[in-house]
Amino acid sequence: MRFIAHFSLFCAGRLLQTKMNIAILASGSGSNAENIARHFSNNKEVRIALIITNKKDAYVLERARTLNIASLIFPKEEWITGERIMEALIDHHIDFVVLAGFLLRIPDVLLHKYPNKIINIHPSLLPKFGGKGMYGDRVHQAVVAAQEKETGITIHYVNEYYDEGEVIEQITCPVLSTDTPEQVAEKVHALEYAHFPRVIEKILFNH
Ligand code: GRF
Repeated sequence: MRFIAHFSLFCAGRLLQTKMNIAILASGSGSNAENIARHFSNNKEVRIALIITNKKDAYVLERARTLNIASLIFPKEEWITGERIMEALIDHHIDFVVLAGFLLRIPDVLLHKYPNKIINIHPSLLPKFGGKGMYGDRVHQAVVAAQEKETGITIHYVNEYYDEGEVIEQITCPVLSTDTPEQVAEKVHALEYAHFPRVIEKILFNH
């Protein structure tokens, strides 16, 4: 019996060591965070180990509870140096960081610790409709106002400038002349749910 207990502990330990631990950063609803967590929930090599937010009332915290994923709140001032966030990532053995609707700039200390290991999703075809202050519905309103014929999503590496890191993948969808910003948002969200987990997997496993 003791041997079996030791053996299972050993196996669990091995599993803990070999799984890649991902942290998701989100400031609001967190529907992408949940979609990614569900995608990887039975994955043998990847674990969504931590959800971090900067807002204490963000709905993503509720989702984290339901999904049984550890969550932490770091208010805005913590993101200036990022030291405590860095400690949390190290404590949770985080290997890779995914921004899904996260609105603050990533501190340099994290960018240096995780080179090419922090990615973001933006709900437009960057460089169009990106940059500081361009998030959520504002993006879709701007797309409709500019009478764009298409929009989409951009998944990119994060660097020190908002929405300017190297593009990993862009996926497009049409914008009809009759589309409202809400309809555009719906199409873009559908693209996010369909492609973000796949692209994360592609980056993690180099395929
Ligand atoms: C998404 O549209 C994402 O592209 C953008 O912020 C939104 C977050 O939505 N960066 P949710 O919180 O995942 O529902």
